[in-house]
Amino acid sequence: MKLIVVEDENAIGKVVGQIFVNTVQQNPKIVFGLATGSSPEPIYQYLIEDYQKNKTDWSKVTTFNLDEYVGLEPTHLQSYRYFMNEKLFDHLNIDKNHTYVPLGTGDYVAGAKEYDALIAKAGGIDLQLLGVGTNGHVGFNEPLADFNSLTGVVDLVETTIQANARFFASANEVPKQAVSMGIKSILNAKKIILIANGSNKAQAIKQLVEGEINNLWPCTALQMHQDVTVVVDKTAAGLLQSHGININ
Ligand code: GLP
Repeated sequence: MKLIVVEDENAIGKVVGQIFVNTVQQNPKIVFGLATGSSPEPIYQYLIEDYQKNKTDWSKVTTFNLDEYVGLEPTHLQSYRYFMNEKLFDHLNIDKNHTYVPLGTGDYVAGAKEYDALIAKAGGIDLQLLGVGTNGHVGFNEPLADFNSLTGVVDLVETTIQANARFFASANEVPKQAVSMGIKSILNAKKIILIANGSNKAQAIKQLVEGEINNLWPCTALQMHQDVTVVVDKTAAGLLQSHGININ
């Protein structure tokens, strides 16, 4: 596992954003796994600015998002499909038919069952971007998640509902379930970059980098993968003994 420590979330945006730009330039037909939440926003902003300046060609890129809330239509302001369109896809020349977000409504159970096959049909995910929950969840794979899980319907735990309540009018409006790529689906990616900023992520980052592999901290499953880069800011790295590579 490679560890990169940078100053703040904007530096994460630059470092990881540039990796994505280079990757698209080298392989225009790349398949990305993408994440939602606040952490990836500076990266998506960087990609939009790069597109405006350099016209990096996204027309042949395919993307698969990690998760979606059950019960939210794609037009709902807090759905992850809406988030991805608004924060990234609408601003690039990507073909939206090649951007996949799990279904959260309609026949979402069948959709979840087919999601891993859809990823495999596209050739698998070349580069998966991941955030991490304060409780160590990746995607919406909560503590005690099965490390062999594929995409499916999962229950959200109370800490996640509380953490995500900031995006809704109240915690009561946060959906109680989601469709999420499983831990195994995530580990199937060829390369993984996990990002985190803020001291509220420090414990999860400590477990990920220095803890035992343990499903109480689902992020520790990434220790089983051969090609993981963790890019964090100083505060998220605050509890680590390891120093990693510092980029300022
Ligand atoms: C959310 C998402 C995760 C995300 C995490 C952290 O609930 N399902 O994919 O990585 O929680 O979110 P944030 O970046 O907003 O802290």
